[in-house]
Amino acid sequence: MREAIASYLATARGLLCTPEQVLITAGSTHATGLLARLLLDPGERAWTENPGWPTGRQTLAANEVVPVAVPVDAEGLDVEAGRMLAPDARLALVTPTRQYPLGMGMPLARRSELLAWAQDQMAWILEDDYDGEFQYAARVLPPLQTLDRHGRVIYMGSFSKVLTQALRIGYLVVPPALRVPVACALSHEKVVPTLAQAALADFLRLGEFARHVRRMRSMYRARRDALGAALRDRFGGALAAWPGESGFHTLATLPPGSDERAVSRRCAGFDVLAPALEDYYHPGTRWSSGGLPVPASLLLGFATVDDGELRRGIAGLARALQWGDG
Ligand SMILES: Cc1ncc(COP(=O)(O)O)c(C=O)c1O
Repeated sequence: MREAIASYLATARGLLCTPEQVLITAGSTHATGLLARLLLDPGERAWTENPGWPTGRQTLAANEVVPVAVPVDAEGLDVEAGRMLAPDARLALVTPTRQYPLGMGMPLARRSELLAWAQDQMAWILEDDYDGEFQYAARVLPPLQTLDRHGRVIYMGSFSKVLTQALRIGYLVVPPALRVPVACALSHEKVVPTLAQAALADFLRLGEFARHVRRMRSMYRARRDALGAALRDRFGGALAAWPGESGFHTLATLPPGSDERAVSRRCAGFDVLAPALEDYYHPGTRWSSGGLPVPASLLLGFATVDDGELRRGIAGLARALQWGDG
């Protein structure tokens, strides 16, 4: 399994590592908690993106690490702000390939700044490459890990989005110095079913996984385009798709004056899952933290939405917005 992942990462993501550096986890949530316990002492601080992955932040807190809300600007996590807010943080949980949930990639200069901070502080960078497989642009950003010369970056992958959350399998690529401690911690936990690992290893080795990713990438790209077209058709320019997106969702900016959470709740009433962007911020910090001011927006997932569901979803959204005749 570790060999299969190492060779997949080399071809798919340009990430070169030995199979020994690959360690199998029960997904990114599990990995985040394990690393928090292993690498940080209770009460130590970790930078988290604001907005960012709520589960990651909550998992750090559940493991007695203090998550610090570092604002996100047009280039991703604002390293300068992080240095001001918590220069002594021991870890940074980041999504440099595509910021979650705003969608921008972190340019080279910002990546270098982040790596320099980690080196100065002897801190760890936990790179969450949650949707690295599903980049649709012609130029695909390589992982931050490929720039790491000092062994500060831990690369984190998961099969949750690519295959299914139900599998609960993911992996870490750790710097050589962390290989033994993380492997020991994992072997004590024994949480990843070996039977499922064996089946997944075959799936990878036989090239089925790479084929699956290629098929899904073109399907998701078509679904993203269909969602964009449906939003334009139904709402004209009033519900603009914000440039940010991931391989799985588009951010739709609501008409001025909209109450994001109220619209999201009404959507749920029509059986449409459309989380408010507010839910991705550290509570109460959205307008005071100095990050990118993103107007009221909803996250609209497209990956699992076929044509029929798209029509139903757009109709539900129109009713939630009391738009036209719904
Ligand atoms: C930003 C982000 N990172 C990672 C994950 C994967 O978490 P896990 O592997 O625990 O399912 C998710 C959710 O699927 C996510 O949204």
